[in-house]
Amino acid sequence: MTTVPVTITKSQPKARLYGDAAEKAAAEEAAAAKSAEEKAIMTPQRMQKVDILRYDPEKDAEPYLQSYEVPFNETMSVLDALMYIKDNLDKHLSFRWSCRMAICGSCGMMIGGVPKLAW
Ligand code: FES
Repeated sequence: MTTVPVTITKSQPKARLYGDAAEKAAAEEAAAAKSAEEKAIMTPQRMQKVDILRYDPEKDAEPYLQSYEVPFNETMSVLDALMYIKDNLDKHLSFRWSCRMAICGSCGMMIGGVPKLAW
């Protein structure tokens, strides 16, 4: 028979805070959680190539594909990528959207050759 040494450690109880100290600690904890959440959302996991069919009938003889590199993470939608391109890479890009909740259908477009909502 073998015996396994077991160490039992008693966890230290958290100090209770009251009044202003409790409010301050709660605010700091909420701010830290929000910061971590924002960092997770905004941190690009990788760059994604986005090809967009462009056509301006006043300038272009025919439609053409234009490529953009967009920081991308799994929380982003195609609409987020298009907004990133418009805000940061090409202010002349235009597209329709309204509700961002798959209700109105305004963001309907061909995505990878399939008609989908970009929300
Ligand atoms: S913006 Fe309304 S369905 Fe996409």
